Amino acid sequence: MEPSGTLDSLAQELRVFRPLPQLVVEANVNPQELTAYRRQAEHDPLGYWEEAADELDWYKKWDRVLDDSNAPFYRWFPGARCNIVYNCLDRHIETANKNKLALIWEGEPGDSRKFTYYELYREVNRFAGALRTLGVGKGDRVVIYMPPLPEAVIAMLACARIGAVHALVFAGFSAKALRSRIRDVDARLVVTADGFYRNGQIIKLKPIVDEALVGGCADCVDSVVVVHRAKVETDMQEGRDFWYDDVVRRERREAPAEVMEAGDPLFLLHTSGTTGAPKVVSHCHGGYMVGVNRTLNHVFDIKPTDIFWCTADLGWITGHSAVVYGPLLAGTTTLIYEGHPNYPQADRMWHIVSKYGVTIFYTAPTLIRMLMRFGPQYPRMHDLSTLRILGTVGEPIGPETWLWFYRHIGRGECPLLDTWWQTETGMFMISPLPISLLKPGSVTRALPGVAVDVVDREGNSVPEGKGGLLVVTKPWPAMMTGVYGEDGEAQYRQAFARFPGKYLAGDVAKRDEDGFLWIQGRADDVLNIAGHRLGTAELENAFRAHPAVAEAAVIGVPDKIKGEAAKAFIILNPGFAGTVELMVELQNHMRKELGPVAAIKSVEFRDELPRTKSGKILRRVLKSRETGEDPGDLSMLDDESEQAG
Ligand code: WT7
Repeated sequence: MEPSGTLDSLAQELRVFRPLPQLVVEANVNPQELTAYRRQAEHDPLGYWEEAADELDWYKKWDRVLDDSNAPFYRWFPGARCNIVYNCLDRHIETANKNKLALIWEGEPGDSRKFTYYELYREVNRFAGALRTLGVGKGDRVVIYMPPLPEAVIAMLACARIGAVHALVFAGFSAKALRSRIRDVDARLVVTADGFYRNGQIIKLKPIVDEALVGGCADCVDSVVVVHRAKVETDMQEGRDFWYDDVVRRERREAPAEVMEAGDPLFLLHTSGTTGAPKVVSHCHGGYMVGVNRTLNHVFDIKPTDIFWCTADLGWITGHSAVVYGPLLAGTTTLIYEGHPNYPQADRMWHIVSKYGVTIFYTAPTLIRMLMRFGPQYPRMHDLSTLRILGTVGEPIGPETWLWFYRHIGRGECPLLDTWWQTETGMFMISPLPISLLKPGSVTRALPGVAVDVVDREGNSVPEGKGGLLVVTKPWPAMMTGVYGEDGEAQYRQAFARFPGKYLAGDVAKRDEDGFLWIQGRADDVLNIAGHRLGTAELENAFRAHPAVAEAAVIGVPDKIKGEAAKAFIILNPGFAGTVELMVELQNHMRKELGPVAAIKSVEFRDELPRTKSGKILRRVLKSRETGEDPGDLSMLDDESEQAG
């Protein structure tokens, strides 16, 4: 049955979905075990995380689990020594995983490469050796500016293996944005590709690196390693630029993993910057691997036969934790795809699922919404019966999208897990497990060992049924270890400053009568219309319940009477025209959906919305154009033409 199209978007969502009995029987964590984990974690959180740490290999164990003497600068597993790559690769080649597929790659033209754990181990060793030969050592920063290619994964792991710190920059960023990111992290070396395939075209990448390195960066970057992907004419600067194939050809011996302190940096990563200027978050080897390994195993119920596909680009935290480190720690097979989701047509994702027999499919609501517009005939073209678990991350999914994904991709049988986390949290924080009861659009509750609350402006827990600010009340192992840069310390402190001892996530959330959590969007994405707080997500979900609406973005604009009023930017589904009649109909629809409080002052029909490279709608860009306010840093914007507009 199709969703009714009526009130689907407020937290009055009453539908509950239960897992199939068979799934509960086979789950790695059954309901009794989950209860036991929760009880243990509540009663003895450090003991809980210590057990999680014991599942991994260490050169030396910790003196204690957590040092909180200098809070909020927490130190997890002080005294311990490890290397995350040892746990991702070396550990597995001693077991039956040695000859199992670690990585499947599909290029946009349909070419494919596969690596067993042993093969990946060897490639990583060779590139790790090459990096050392190029003079990169422990603590040095390496920028990886690459499309999704196996070499991007190899480069990440090779850096980590020798104790260098990788900083990925999404290959869609401009030279200007790349330059500022290279500078932010003082990189010594850049790994890139000559080009790659996207939407049937070859996108040249190396010239962008050259442009980024003109002036400014010349002092810090002394080498560039270029992967030969697109086989296009490429200018190579003598003494600075090296082909990947040439530098690894010389390396034959194994490159031993560097022994790292648990708290030593593993990577730096810019936050997506939906709200303010991006900050450079750092994560470490020890706590990060413990948190990511435990939560990925719990949430996705990893089985030896899984093929795990997370569609995120490597350049986001999701790419780090859910494409590379999490799946490899878990010893599963991770899949990456180079190209555009609609190339050559709107069934490409489903084609890949059936081609490789993907069992776990983890993606972003924005991608589902885009694919929804093309209709269910595309997934129907393929056998999706291997899928057993679905997941989403990145923004509120909303009941409409949830139900479409659940029905048309998950056959109404696969648990759909909406996972809430951030660049700063490193690991999944709030999420159902496959055995959990699900409500479409809810992230359900915090994972065992994670303590969250919803608080009012004074920091008091709000009663059930009310909204407030989402906070994390206890430290967690994969938490960011710092913010890099001159005022990094102050930026880090700021996240813990508003409510001492609590991490302010910057999101607005609601807890319903059953204790289920509903993320309503970023705190700054909340409108206050005549004293009523309305999340942009809530308004946008209500819009999407209308058959004409494919995508909606809502911003607050000043209003003489109400203080603030809502303005909507709408992308229509095919077959609908942006007429005045439709605008009035949508305004009436919103009133019906959410009540008179949701009065929409104006509606603007559009073909595109400004988005971050990771697909999040940049409402502040829409807003700045309406109000003339400064939009702030725009380097994370996906379409640079928007910057000029
Ligand atoms: C922000 C973090 C973690 C990987 C992707 C984004 C939003 C994240 C959800 C979700 C509603 C979500 C939040 C959060 N977000 N997951 N399941 N439901 N909103 O990482 O770029 O650091 O962004 O993404 O607003 O604060 P990020």
